[in-house]
Amino acid sequence: MPPNDTIRAVEWKDNHLILLDQRKLPHAEQYIQLYNAEDTAEAIRNMVVRGAPAIGITAAYGLLMAARKAFKQYPHDWRSRLQPDIDVLAAARPTAINLHWALQRMITALDEEDPEPINTLMALAQRIHQEDIDANHRMAFLGNELIKPTHGVLTHCNTGSLATGGYGTALGVIRTAYSEGKIEQVYADETRPWWQGSRLTAWELMRDKIPTQLICEGAAAHLMKLGKISWVVVGADRIAANGDVANKIGTYSLAVLARFHGVRFMVVAPTSTIDMNTLTGEQIPIEERSPDEILNVNQQRIAAPQVSAWNPAFDVTPGKLVDILVTEKGIVVRPDNEKLSSLMQRS
Ligand code: MRU
Repeated sequence: MPPNDTIRAVEWKDNHLILLDQRKLPHAEQYIQLYNAEDTAEAIRNMVVRGAPAIGITAAYGLLMAARKAFKQYPHDWRSRLQPDIDVLAAARPTAINLHWALQRMITALDEEDPEPINTLMALAQRIHQEDIDANHRMAFLGNELIKPTHGVLTHCNTGSLATGGYGTALGVIRTAYSEGKIEQVYADETRPWWQGSRLTAWELMRDKIPTQLICEGAAAHLMKLGKISWVVVGADRIAANGDVANKIGTYSLAVLARFHGVRFMVVAPTSTIDMNTLTGEQIPIEERSPDEILNVNQQRIAAPQVSAWNPAFDVTPGKLVDILVTEKGIVVRPDNEKLSSLMQRS
């Protein structure tokens, strides 16, 4: 692995799944071992693993483990026994389409006549994983070409090795651009309420010795007004056919602010995140998580007694606010229906 690509949040080893527990970072590097689909779905739901591509890869391995168990117990009708496991994995988190995309690839493979179905499924899950890593490196190359020697960039949430098969989407572009001397300073939003920025992105960037300053989301407009950044670089959980982008709550505000201040807005996402069956952003289901994530910090109540909270985990940025979409199949300027359908037809 290259020196700036050393973290693996998801690993398949000796027939089971190992996840780096992201709830514990950055204070502890603990791994959990999973052997079945139900525990895998729970790990996705509880954010042991998170980030759209990483949860897709995890779900593929989850279905592999379910298929292996069913094949052993019910060799004659193992396929028909899998539906509850498929359902529990599919329902783990609603917004990121990569979860459904990866499951669908596995389901298509398991429906085929095959003398060695479990070996085929294992090879496919590993291929989904490796393809994501390869896509990240390709996107990093393409995105980096757009970045001129600059002073600062702002990123949101965590889009790095922890959120993907490895290397990262937006963070992959930032890693590569930094290694080429094009970025002097990364600003990372804390990313309330789950602190993906301060706990995870900062952890990844500090390991790579990339100069990083955390800001609270509310500082973004001021940062842009002072001319400290020329790009906002973010990932995506689902991109609709018209180019609307669902990503971590707060992304939409950054896109509005960026357009107002003449800062360019780049979305970096593999084509597994583009869902041509979701026509517009309005059709994207937005996960609402527990109010406790806002009311408490480290299990300690911060908010005043009796107050409640609303906790949408994602928002939708209109495609017209996206200057550049970087995918492994190529770059799209101001994504729309026509441009995305021609992108998706490329091999
Ligand atoms: O709730 P999370 O942490 O799973 O949200 C993750 C994001 O919003 C990321 O920006 C997105 O999945 C892209 S990750 C490459």
